[in-house]
Amino acid sequence: MTSVPVSSPTQEYPNWTPDHSLDLLFHPDTIPVQVRRELHQDLHVRPLARTDYNRSHLSVLSVLTVVTDPGLAAYQARFDLLRAAPRTNYTLVIVDKPTDQIVAVGSVFIEHKFLRGLGSVGHIEDIAVNPKVQGKKLGLRVIQALTGISEREGCYKTILNCSDKNIPFYEKCGYVKKENEMAKYNERPGTPKL
Ligand SMILES: CC(C)(COP(=O)(O)OP(=O)(O)OC[C@H]1O[C@@H](n2cnc3c(N)ncnc32)[C@H](O)[C@@H]1OP(=O)(O)O)[C@@H](O)C(=O)NCCC(=O)NCCS
Repeated sequence: MTSVPVSSPTQEYPNWTPDHSLDLLFHPDTIPVQVRRELHQDLHVRPLARTDYNRSHLSVLSVLTVVTDPGLAAYQARFDLLRAAPRTNYTLVIVDKPTDQIVAVGSVFIEHKFLRGLGSVGHIEDIAVNPKVQGKKLGLRVIQALTGISEREGCYKTILNCSDKNIPFYEKCGYVKKENEMAKYNERPGTPKL
């Protein structure tokens, strides 16, 4: 059996913070080894860390939609809330090791159901790749990793919503179009309608 060096500090990457020095959202071994193997050596995939506020997490998400900066304390309170629910919230990031900055992100939320024999469904959310590195298969790797986590959690399906223009991307990731999305926005003034 071959072992994969997943998170060793090296002299080559003096700025990079390895997993064992971070407070992570979930155990890094949850991420499929195959996805790690496919990444360029300058890139590292890992769970979200409590200090990723300082590694451009919100800036990368801003390619997806308008992002308001909650500040570090509120960011970390949200991180703690997500981590408090076991086996439910998985947000992962791809980090550029030379700069220790995040270049791609994505999440899968595990819905634990009473239906389908206590089945579970994975909901993929908030996929974003830094525009400077789009088109290099990082979006694909994020989806592969999240789908792998969802399936390892025993989910019988993994689903997501997307705009028409992103349908070809998700088809390349192995997803097929199914049914429709419905939405009801909160009418309270100031509520985002995104
Ligand atoms: C959509 C997004 C996540 C794709 O990530 P990416 O790293 O640029 O895409 P990848 O390089 O992994 O693409 C994988 C495959 O999908 C194709 N693809 C990606 N985006 C595509 C698009 N909009 N239309 C058609 N094909 C697309 C790529 O050409 C590639 O195909 P190939 O395997 O034949 O070469 C990224 O462009 C992004 O962050 N966009 C802005 C935010 C966003 O829209 N997020 C999704 C919300 S649902």
